[in-house]
Amino acid sequence: MRIYKVGGAVRDRLLGKPVTDIDWVVVGATTEEMLAQGYRPVGADFPVFLHPKSGEEYALARTERKSGRGYGGFTFHASPEVTLEEDLIRRDLTINAMAEDDQQNLTDPYHGQRDLEARVLRHVSPAFAEDPLRVLRAARFAARYAGLGFTVAPETLELMRQLSESGELKALTAERSWKEISRALMEDQPRVFIEVLRECGALKVLMPEVDALFGVPQPAAHHPEIDTGVHTLSVLEQAAQHKQPLTVRWACLLHDLGKGLTPEEEWPRHIAHEHTGLKLIKAVNERFKAPKDCQELALLVGQYHTHGHRALELKPSTLLDLLQSFDVYRRPQRFEEFIAACEMDARGRKGLEQRSYPQADYLRGAATAARNVAVQPLLEKGFKGPELGEAIKRERLKALKAYKEAASA
Ligand code: CTP
Repeated sequence: MRIYKVGGAVRDRLLGKPVTDIDWVVVGATTEEMLAQGYRPVGADFPVFLHPKSGEEYALARTERKSGRGYGGFTFHASPEVTLEEDLIRRDLTINAMAEDDQQNLTDPYHGQRDLEARVLRHVSPAFAEDPLRVLRAARFAARYAGLGFTVAPETLELMRQLSESGELKALTAERSWKEISRALMEDQPRVFIEVLRECGALKVLMPEVDALFGVPQPAAHHPEIDTGVHTLSVLEQAAQHKQPLTVRWACLLHDLGKGLTPEEEWPRHIAHEHTGLKLIKAVNERFKAPKDCQELALLVGQYHTHGHRALELKPSTLLDLLQSFDVYRRPQRFEEFIAACEMDARGRKGLEQRSYPQADYLRGAATAARNVAVQPLLEKGFKGPELGEAIKRERLKALKAYKEAASA
């Protein structure tokens, strides 16, 4: 049996990037031999094992055929006869299809090193199409390595286009798609992920609600960039530049979906887009089974981002409703994330990237004022149950009135 390091570990070492996960491929071994050496199988019908000590993944060299069952909907053919070259040819990108032995001798039959140097993301062979998730993976790698100058090869983009048109992306499970989407959004240039998906027609299939924003105008006075899709990408870019967490980035991507529904005769205005967008945000959330915190923040930002921008003009009662909607008393962090998303939205406009956003501190101050209302004196006055709730609300409203007066004085 011969063991090689493969995939990301080889790629990232050659790129001079830190290697975190190491994947290994094992040539010339049977499942029985692996088990006899103490490797632990990952799944019943999937030829991947965990090393007894390091816990790293060791996969038997395999060829793979598309069809129903098995790991993520595949069946595999693994046998001691499968060669390293046969294993590598069915991998996604040439830069991911290199192997290295324990002397760092490189096996690179599909010219991954050449493509690394040329900064090209290129599919290895037509077997790329065996797993439509690779459309998302290629877009994710484009986002990750955009800073190094990588782009997708035209022939790979063409294959991605064919895969997108074939309808196969629809068969991807929510879990696999979300894993790619969430990782891509956390890259340094997540806008490139969306751009590449759009370019190959995958965005229209995966998130038609986001795709629909391109070509939709907004008023130039607030949005010098005009196009809603361009604006959305800029908001996402701001979120990445400000190192925002996944929740905020997801909310940024979805905040304006309602604008895609505005009848053309109302353009460039988008009356009540915050409300019309909610059902779309819900649909995208559910399609990818996004985690609860991402789902919640996206809906709240969708509904209230205009409130965020108008914070200084809001009546105390509206401000109170906003704080109540966020349950800011028990969930202060979520309100911070809302403020961050609003700020990214404000800065994601052409020429306004450096603008200040006084709304942020104003909203924080309002939250503190409302939170500082003491409950104990109301309990001492004998308030209970729903009346106590009402009394607290009245006190918070008073506090917000005072806060607003002091702020505008
Ligand atoms: N691979 C593939 N097709 C997939 C998933 C993985 O061909 N759909 C192959 C690639 O050769 C890849 C390797 O399996 O390099 C390991 O996959 P994974 O650990 O998911 O990705 P990495 O390339 O290691 O990249 P990352 O740094 O994003 O983890």
